[in-house]
Amino acid sequence: MQPEFTAIAHPNIAFIKYWGNRDDALRLPLNGSISMNLSGMETRTTVQFDQALVQDHFELNGETQSGPGLQRVSDFLDHVRRLASSNHFARVSSSNNFPTGAGIASSASAFAALALAASKAAGLDLNQKDLSRLARLGSGSACRSIPDGFVEWLPGEDDASSYAVSIASKDHWDLVDAIAVVSQGHKPVGSSAGHKLAHTSPLNAQRVLDAPERIRNCREALLGRDFARFAEVVELDSNYMHAVMRTSNPPLVYWESATEVLLWQVWQWRKEGHAVCATVDAGPNVHVLALKSELEWLQKALWELPGVKNVLTGEPAEGARLAV
Ligand code: DP6
Repeated sequence: MQPEFTAIAHPNIAFIKYWGNRDDALRLPLNGSISMNLSGMETRTTVQFDQALVQDHFELNGETQSGPGLQRVSDFLDHVRRLASSNHFARVSSSNNFPTGAGIASSASAFAALALAASKAAGLDLNQKDLSRLARLGSGSACRSIPDGFVEWLPGEDDASSYAVSIASKDHWDLVDAIAVVSQGHKPVGSSAGHKLAHTSPLNAQRVLDAPERIRNCREALLGRDFARFAEVVELDSNYMHAVMRTSNPPLVYWESATEVLLWQVWQWRKEGHAVCATVDAGPNVHVLALKSELEWLQKALWELPGVKNVLTGEPAEGARLAV
């Protein structure tokens, strides 16, 4: 038996979204993206390779997994085995401190924590770039949960050049993400299937063409702590992605009526002078990004809106790390 390693990683919220791949197997994205790691929510994963095992074993929140859940982890471990020239199977035990399927993407924190714990357990000592590349193979957005704080995924041209880097530390800007959860159910079409539909939208080519401009705008707004500029580009990018989703074949509509109400309300609050803006991932929940000074009233106000079942809060967080 080899030593076991435990790693911790946070989910992240994308300000500029990853949607669609140039290469689905390698998860080479059509465009770059920018995100912030979210404190408070985390995945903790322990991995141990064991030559006595006849297959990989995966436990999530105390329950043994089989079927597609196990398969995705096992496929990922194949990449680790390839890098480590090993043929040993592994025992993986993972837990989220936020409810799985609560509308918070868990694949980013899951594969970031798994990449770190599994590579260490296999005897590898990957640098941050190679760890981010590895995490990307499990889930695209997971490559952004490896570096600290505010992160940019450089889309690259091949496996070697597609990875994420930190563009500012978690202490750079007092931003918060107040997540208004309107649905806790599993989404009808997961992101991996959704990415494959991006190409079918007539709007997609334009979205991809304009992405470097939005990336530049977002990076500059973030580095300059310019909330008004930040809000504009974040909402444009989210709406652009949902326009592509809606015009795909078949159409992907992730918003619910409560999503629309929330978005409208956030826009009103900003018109009234509050530093708030909204972004939505592949689901109906609304991520309200705000300056921390807005958080107290914002949390109360979100709870009072129709259809809001929970409000979770995340602040900028560090990247993936080993548990001590
Ligand atoms: C809408 O990283 O979840 O949240 O690589 O198939 O696991 P897979 O997709 P995933 O896609 C994330 C899509 C998004 C936007 C984003 O986080 O950038």
